[in-house]
Amino acid sequence: MDKFVANLMSRMTLEEKIGQLNLPVMGEITTGEAQNSDVANKIRNGQVGGLFNLRGPEKVKEMQQIAVEESRMKIPLLFGLDVIHGYETVFPIPLALSCTWNMQAVERSAQIAAKEASADGICWAFSPMVDIARDPRWGRIAEGAGEDPYLGGQIAKAMVQGYQGVGDSAFTSNAQIMACVKHYALYGAAEAGRDYNTVDMSRIRMYNEYLYPYHAAVEAGVGSVMSSFNEIDGVPATANHWLMTDVLRDQWGFKGFVVTDYTAINEMVAHGIGDLQTVSARALKAGIDMDMVGEGFLTTLKKSLDEGKVTKADIDQACRLILEAKYKLGLFDNPYKFCDSERPKKDIYTPENRAVARKIASESFVLLKNDNNLLPLSKKGTIAVIGPLADARSNMVGTWSVASRPDVKSLVEGLKETAGDQVKINYAKGSNLTTDPVLEEHGAFGRLIGRDKRTEEELRNEALRVASQSDVVVAALGESAEFTGESSSRSDISIPDVQQRLLKELLKTGKPVVLVLFTGRPLTLTWENESVPAILNVWFGGSEAGLAIGDVLFGDVNPSGKLTTSFPRNVGQIPIYYNHKNTGRPLEKGQWFQKFRSNYLDVVNEPLYPFGYGLSYTSFTYSDIRLSVSDLTEKGELTAEVTVTNTGKRDGAEVVQLYIRDMVGSVTRPVKELKGFEKIFLKAGESKTVQFKITPEMLKFYNYDLQYVNEPGDFQVMIGGDSEQVKSATFALK
Ligand code: GLC
Repeated sequence: MDKFVANLMSRMTLEEKIGQLNLPVMGEITTGEAQNSDVANKIRNGQVGGLFNLRGPEKVKEMQQIAVEESRMKIPLLFGLDVIHGYETVFPIPLALSCTWNMQAVERSAQIAAKEASADGICWAFSPMVDIARDPRWGRIAEGAGEDPYLGGQIAKAMVQGYQGVGDSAFTSNAQIMACVKHYALYGAAEAGRDYNTVDMSRIRMYNEYLYPYHAAVEAGVGSVMSSFNEIDGVPATANHWLMTDVLRDQWGFKGFVVTDYTAINEMVAHGIGDLQTVSARALKAGIDMDMVGEGFLTTLKKSLDEGKVTKADIDQACRLILEAKYKLGLFDNPYKFCDSERPKKDIYTPENRAVARKIASESFVLLKNDNNLLPLSKKGTIAVIGPLADARSNMVGTWSVASRPDVKSLVEGLKETAGDQVKINYAKGSNLTTDPVLEEHGAFGRLIGRDKRTEEELRNEALRVASQSDVVVAALGESAEFTGESSSRSDISIPDVQQRLLKELLKTGKPVVLVLFTGRPLTLTWENESVPAILNVWFGGSEAGLAIGDVLFGDVNPSGKLTTSFPRNVGQIPIYYNHKNTGRPLEKGQWFQKFRSNYLDVVNEPLYPFGYGLSYTSFTYSDIRLSVSDLTEKGELTAEVTVTNTGKRDGAEVVQLYIRDMVGSVTRPVKELKGFEKIFLKAGESKTVQFKITPEMLKFYNYDLQYVNEPGDFQVMIGGDSEQVKSATFALK
């Protein structure tokens, strides 16, 4: 590769090298504000390194032919797309996928996404997004892997391996594509949960928490990284040399290339750190290799070189990394490797792919409440399915589903198909999504579910009539698909007003009500949790969600999803997360208010539903923890084991979670940190012993001087089915 790339570069002009650093957008998909013009000619003139948002082997081939047959150097293009949670077969949104805690499922979803996208000409996915988020006001929490570093790291690794393949087998088939971990870095810590807002945190928090999943992706061999819009330490990530070179390349040894987010270079003018030429030069020197859409590199780097603001070596380095990526993908051997027009009908949206998506979706749902085992529903009698999201096909796939088909099954259609012929399903819309049409339109991103012209009262009266003729009500409520995702922050994260009014009236009928909750973020559900007997959080389950929800509601699948983000009781508790510090004035156990302690006057400290929480149609008990030794030496290891028993009447899966607390450190340490998990399947009445190996390596953290160390002392080990209900034991690191 080195020889090939060096030889190629030795024959390229400066302009052609700069051309490789340019990534214009093209195609009918919109994922940002600016657009590029005259792209075909720029390709002909060697001014383009890749394109994105173009789909279809014929369209891709047309552009590739211009590059390979009409430009001077005949260098093939990369073709990128936001393949975030599937392609035409859409998997649950990433936050939902993380709630499966099933890394094989996560990897499989990425493999299938890569197979489908590559069949359509795409060789580069702008995924996985692993930005840690602890503020559900931020709409892109839907797109990530939740609040925990360790779980985020496991998911990053599974996704990268799913897209690219593993080790030497990576990029060896035309069903494998290059991944792009994003948004590097810390984008999920935007102040006040407002998208693109300022990020500011200590280095020690970066290293111990927020950077961890990106590092895991680099260790898994991710081929590219995408820089984030936000600033870090007062310098936008896209011009931050410490972030892009000191950490990413020098400390982590990243060998791939860095692409900016959408016009992120140009936006540094608004950040206030210089004009387009200045910020383009700063980006290149920071370690950015490819400029998405903004054409700052294309239009200013030659001038900056002439003025000594960048060097030839800077440009060569960026160009080399992009040519290496094309080499790894096999594009120089066969530029049309991903342009087989026979593949779409064979590989895309196949029954096999959809069956996998249906199963994974049913594993991603989180059962939040189920009083008196109202669920699962019997497959007999009359069910009223009511709500603005009950018959909204376009809503099922959630945000960032750029390749989804419009004809996926709605909830009503899915229930009718899974209920069997003993059940009568009646439907009523019940209400619009929101009272305010402007809010609905802002939160739709063009994917409106349609407003009913009838008044709120007319809609509700029809719903109450349908409810009165049924044995049970399934209320399909929550957010629409684009109420989360990019540029979809909310200051009030409750179920929209008109839907809450509908739900209250449905509860007054006295019929049992099941809330099937569609959402891309944790919502404040305090009164729903008090008033509604059963709540199933289905997030946005993808193209097969309608069927998967039926599978779970009727008990063909026992729900096993566990939350990966804390659900606050109100917005005032935010940021709220399980791996918090103890502070110097912690509340005493069992207390919710003590003067001069760290608490609120008007609400408890705990979330409504904690990290790791999720119910099942069966129940599990945990034995006390058994430790193999009570002292762990530097070269030693310790085994912690519990016996888990399925004490209910149904087979089911349980996510056994391992948390560790470092009781005393040279810096303050979290009250607990996830350090392992195992998803087990237990038949009714069955018991299984689960063992976790604890090593000194697992106890390391970044200290005040950012050295990665462990420190002798006492540790608490906790094991349970969520981050609060745990058995515990102690050991010492000697
Ligand atoms: C968007 C998103 C990023 C996406 C890119 C290309 O603004 O921030 O996640 O990959 O632009 O669509």
